[in-house]
Amino acid sequence: MNQPLLSIKKAQKHFGSVRAIDGIDLDIQENEFFALLGASGSGKTTLLRMLAGFEVPDGGQIVLDGQDVSHIPPNKRAVNLMFQSYALFPHMSVFQNIAYGLEMEGLAKAQIKARVDEILEVIQLGDLARRKPDQLSGGQRQRVALARALVKRPRLLLLDEPLGALDKKLRGDMQLELKRIQHEFGITFIIVTHDQEEALVMADRVAILKDGKLLQSGTPREIYEQPGSRFAADFIGVMNFFPVQSSGGTLRAQDGSVIQADAIHMADGPGVAAVRPERLRLDGPGENSMTGTVTATAYHGLDLQVHLKTSAAPDTVVMRLTADAAEARPLSAGDTVTVNWAARDTRAFAD
Ligand SMILES: Nc1ncnc2c1ncn2[C@@H]1O[C@H](COP(=O)(O)OP(=O)(O)OP(=O)(O)O)[C@@H](O)[C@H]1O
Ligand SMILES: [Mg+2]
Repeated sequence: MNQPLLSIKKAQKHFGSVRAIDGIDLDIQENEFFALLGASGSGKTTLLRMLAGFEVPDGGQIVLDGQDVSHIPPNKRAVNLMFQSYALFPHMSVFQNIAYGLEMEGLAKAQIKARVDEILEVIQLGDLARRKPDQLSGGQRQRVALARALVKRPRLLLLDEPLGALDKKLRGDMQLELKRIQHEFGITFIIVTHDQEEALVMADRVAILKDGKLLQSGTPREIYEQPGSRFAADFIGVMNFFPVQSSGGTLRAQDGSVIQADAIHMADGPGVAAVRPERLRLDGPGENSMTGTVTATAYHGLDLQVHLKTSAAPDTVVMRLTADAAEARPLSAGDTVTVNWAARDTRAFAD
């Protein structure tokens, strides 16, 4: 593999007694679309601010293009950060808002106009160039903020919750838009989001932060299919957890039944066996089986969600049936069903 565009090496940042970033190692390749996920306070913004140069790490290094930039100020790095709460200049037009950064760089007027016009076309706001921010919708304002960050053609663009202000539909549109823009400009993106689904949809790779540490990173598929810890399994998507006791590698559920799991990330003792709702099948193949009572069904268009009560778990077990499977076997509350699933779809974690 080529030299990564960015290497974060044992990075640390403390605020008093808070370890905001607690020893993070991470490489990011040129042209990658990388998403940082984590609960509130996990260190996402702090990490971005460190990459942009607004925070100096108090341990480790930030290496950009082979050069240690840990102590280089923001305006001397080919990095741009779109802040979590961005603000447009209210008295300036869309055009002026986008042009501002280039004017600060001292570019010639004609050059600025060419660059801004180009970006306006990409974000499809050319017709609104003369409007003021208060004459735009929330989504349009967000696109202007993005254009302002893009127009400086950074090697690396850092986006802190760039779609946070948008409603669900617009958010979906903008997710695709961001991917298109990233592709078109060939800029490396690191995006922070609270929304795990958004990260899976947009990113080439995803990292989960927890308490300032990097818990796991990988492709969306790896993160979803092969979570390495109970936290990661719970954080991404919906997961069913069966409390188990492990003894000599045998997992026993609370009702005494044995659960077979191909991936066991725990020692002997208490833990959980985890399986995704879409891996549960009605009377299908699979080493694992369980009987339950349907408590509710919910129609979601593409699939049917079935809630089950079973003696193997204290919580409701969620199953997702395809429309076809649901049609072949209509279910309603009170029905007793047998559910099967495979050992290869089952992972066990310590509590
Ligand atoms: N300037 C600061 N002074 C003191 N503590 C700070 C400072 N900035 C961040 N922190 C603390 O560092 C930790 C990480 O904060 P950070 O803003 O990076 O979280 P985040 O993951 O971006 O959260 P959110 O999703 O809520 O934006 C938090 O505990 C926060 O309170
Ligand atoms: Mg933040």
